[in-house]
Amino acid sequence: MTTPPTVPAAPDRTAAPRPVVVVGDANVDLVLRGDVVPRFGQAEQLADSGDLVLGGSASIAAAGVARLGVPTTLVARVGADVFGTFTLDALRAAGVDVSAVDVARDEATGLSVILSTPDDRAILTVPGTIPTLTGSHALAVLDGWHGPPGVVHVASYFLQPRLAADLPAVLVSARERGWTTSLDTNWDPAERWTGLADLLPHVDVLLPNRNELRAVAGALGPGPQGAAHTGDRDVVLARAVAARGPRVVVKDGARGGWSVGPAGAVVRAPGLAVEVVDTTGAGDSFDAGYLAALAHGIEDETERVRWAACAGSLSTLGPGGTGAQATFAALRAALA
Ligand SMILES: Nc1ncnc2c1ncn2[C@@H]1O[C@H](COP(=O)(O)OP(=O)(O)O)[C@@H](O)[C@H]1O
Ligand SMILES: [Mg+2]
Repeated sequence: MTTPPTVPAAPDRTAAPRPVVVVGDANVDLVLRGDVVPRFGQAEQLADSGDLVLGGSASIAAAGVARLGVPTTLVARVGADVFGTFTLDALRAAGVDVSAVDVARDEATGLSVILSTPDDRAILTVPGTIPTLTGSHALAVLDGWHGPPGVVHVASYFLQPRLAADLPAVLVSARERGWTTSLDTNWDPAERWTGLADLLPHVDVLLPNRNELRAVAGALGPGPQGAAHTGDRDVVLARAVAARGPRVVVKDGARGGWSVGPAGAVVRAPGLAVEVVDTTGAGDSFDAGYLAALAHGIEDETERVRWAACAGSLSTLGPGGTGAQATFAALRAALA
């Protein structure tokens, strides 16, 4: 009698994805497209199009993760006004659970006006409720969580000082309960980039774009063990940041993305060649692709970065952050 050879079990792609909780900004974006530089002196200039869409890095990422078939909850604050209603409706339409979004009476929902050209954007933001989100709000959601832990993703660190102050404690607590932690700081409007040295040891995945990586690495200085001085300059910077704890997954525009782990090895994935309509929120859809890969149990890092780069590229095919976000089926088709 022969015994059949032992075959390693294939990853169970049919298993239910882990949940994703996104903590951060919820607002509206008014996206104007046109090849126009704003000019003062009461000059009226014409743009090509205008769209009122869901805004906020956290909200766009949450919508993207939900579209990719992952149970997704957003922790945020909006005002009890027309923009707040629009924001909640857009999140619900994407499949995001908004039961943990506070609706604040007598406060205004945040608003960004974005002027988007094919290769750049200018952004004016009225913060409204965005800076009022607290760490205790996020902790309360984790405290009351029923079901298995998944991934906690925090976005727009520098727009939310009250959340930022408590974030190390929130992430420590999340990890103790079995959650994976993820952070997209986005840009610091004050360009000070403070607070990250205490935070990064509690972050499993950091998701900067190239400019943010340079700013973060510059503010932190060399890593604890000193960076390995091989590879291109940005890889050296990413290794220095990764030496503080997180895997660093870098968004690299049309080139796609790349990732450096604690051991310093680099993996890369190209974006898709697409006819870009609007890159607003592409980085947040990139985050969504990476988070969805984590939630779906993808263990290979190259594959996770492919999901991210592909989700980022597909999102540029429509206006705003969520106008063209991929479904799970569309992402799988693009990956294949
Ligand atoms: N011109 C483009 N062509 C194809 N994909 C793009 C393009 N611009 C952005 N992307 C996709 O979106 C991701 C995020 O874009 P990027 O501009 O690097 O980030 P951010 O929006 O945070 O500045 C990229 O990693 C890539 O996957
Ligand atoms: Mg971004």
